[in-house]
Amino acid sequence: MTISLPDGLMVEPFFDAATSTFTYLLVDPKSQRAIVIDPVLDFEPHGARVSHAGADRILAYIAAQKLRVDWILETHIHADHLSAAGYLKDKLGARVGIGAEVRTVISAWNRIYDLAGEVPADGSQFDRLFQSGERIAFGGAAIEIWFTPGHTPACASYVGNGFAFVGDTIFSPQLGSARADFPGGDARVLYRSIRRLLAMPPATRLFLCHDYPEGDTAPQPQVTVAEQRARNIHVMDGTAEDTYVAMRAARDRALKPPKLILPAVQVNIRAGRLPAPDAEGRVFLKLPVDAI
Ligand SMILES: [Fe+2]
Repeated sequence: MTISLPDGLMVEPFFDAATSTFTYLLVDPKSQRAIVIDPVLDFEPHGARVSHAGADRILAYIAAQKLRVDWILETHIHADHLSAAGYLKDKLGARVGIGAEVRTVISAWNRIYDLAGEVPADGSQFDRLFQSGERIAFGGAAIEIWFTPGHTPACASYVGNGFAFVGDTIFSPQLGSARADFPGGDARVLYRSIRRLLAMPPATRLFLCHDYPEGDTAPQPQVTVAEQRARNIHVMDGTAEDTYVAMRAARDRALKPPKLILPAVQVNIRAGRLPAPDAEGRVFLKLPVDAI
C-alpha cells in the first residue's frame, strides 16, 4: 500500500503482525533515495530465536525498486520489539540516527541491566545523534527532527512537508496515546509533545508506530492532524492537560510491562545489535529479575 506525499515522495508501510509495529520506507522516486524508519528484528520469545524475515522483506523491496538507503532512523528506544537497525545497516551501508536524548535512556537502562562499561552511555553506537530542530537532506526535500518526549525522554519525530513520523507520541484516534511510565517517561511532557504535533496544518499526515486492529480490520498506518484533533479519545481538541495527565497515570498503573521489553531494550540501546558473541559464538541476553 504505497502512500503518496507532497513533493513526489512516497511511503511504503511494512506491518509486523507479531508486534503490531509499522516499519516505514520513505522514498524519493526521483533520486531513488530512501530512509528506513523503525525496522523490526523478528524475535520469538519462547525459544529466544532471532530471524530476519521481516527485515529481508524490506531489503527485497529496496532491491526491486533499486533504491539507495541513506538513513535508518529510530523514533525512540522501543520496548515492544527488537530493532533490526544493525542488521540493515550492515546490508545497506546506511547510517543509524536517533534523537540525542537517547543518552538519558541508555544510562537508565544500563543501570537496570548492569551494562555500564559494555553499552556506551555516550550513544556512540549510533552513527548520528540528532539535536532538536536539526535537518537532514533527503532528495530535494529536508526532514526536520523534532524532539517529542514523554513516552520516553528521547522520543523524536521526523517531520517533512505535509507529514510526520511520530513514533509512539500518539496512536490512532480510537487508541489514543502511548504509555508514559517507562524510565524517564512523563505524561505532562507527552501531552505537550502531542499538542505540538497537532498544531501542524490539519491535512498533515501522521505516520504511527503501531496499530492494534480488532478482528479483520486492516492496521492503520496514518491519520491526519484534523482527524486526531476531532476524535482522538485521549487528546482531542478540548482535552485539558490535567485531565490527560490523570487519565494517563490511571491507565499506566494498570498496564503490565510489554512482553518483549527485557529482550528488546538491551538490543535497542545497542543501536539494534545483539550482544557480542562469546568465544564459541554463543549470544546471551540478560534477564534482570524484579528490576522494572
Ligand atoms: Fe514505544
